[in-house]
Amino acid sequence: MNKEHILSKAREYAKMKLQNDASGHDWWHIFRVAEWAKRIAAEEGADSFICELSALLHDLADEKLVQSKDESMEELKRWLFAHQVEMKDAEQVLDIIATLSFRGGHGEPMKSLEGQVVQDADRLDAIGAIGIARTFAYSGWKGQAMYDPDLPVRTTMTPDEYRHGKSTAINHFYEKLLTLKGRFNTPFAIQLAKERHVFMEQFLKQFFKEWNGMEEIKQ
Ligand code: ADP
Ligand code: NI
Repeated sequence: MNKEHILSKAREYAKMKLQNDASGHDWWHIFRVAEWAKRIAAEEGADSFICELSALLHDLADEKLVQSKDESMEELKRWLFAHQVEMKDAEQVLDIIATLSFRGGHGEPMKSLEGQVVQDADRLDAIGAIGIARTFAYSGWKGQAMYDPDLPVRTTMTPDEYRHGKSTAINHFYEKLLTLKGRFNTPFAIQLAKERHVFMEQFLKQFFKEWNGMEEIKQ
């Protein structure tokens, strides 16, 4: 099977698997990550096929979404085999996905440039305006509040609290979103992340201003 054909099959597969997702991992998240992965790959001289294929399949073994990570990884392996992806490519794609979807998803350094590119593309989609939107969507899905002024801001949650959605959308900025800025790998993504980070800071400033009614007092 040629590479274009494999990619088009991977698109169909991801669409089919994630069509009912309401947790911020829907097909359009995959689409954005795949598009950014291609753009970053072109800038950084990474293998475009590996980056795009890994991006298209990257959330199919996410611990937050699937019953068993091991089983999902097996299923991915079978899919790659059935679509005649070359062995060394399949191994690299599986390694990237396994590292990306590692618990919490954000501790493991990526071994290859292609892994770094996909991780950057996924992290870009977690920040900026889209990152904000996804965080509120995810919170609704989990039944978390948008914000609770009675809860002190916490920068760390236990894995159990995290899994059970004991946070709030606003708190998630302090747990994760604002910490991503220093964790991009490639120069191109580091540049893109700067603007998105500033936008989140502005959003929080405005959110608290409105929450505290300051805009009326100042006038
Ligand atoms: P990805 O798979 O794209 O790396 P995650 O699986 O970590 O992202 O999360 C998906 C989306 O949901 C992200 O935009 C993330 O910020 C948001 N999210 C994840 N965990 C929480 C949480 N505990 N509270 C609010 N939003 C969350
Ligand atoms: Ni993702």
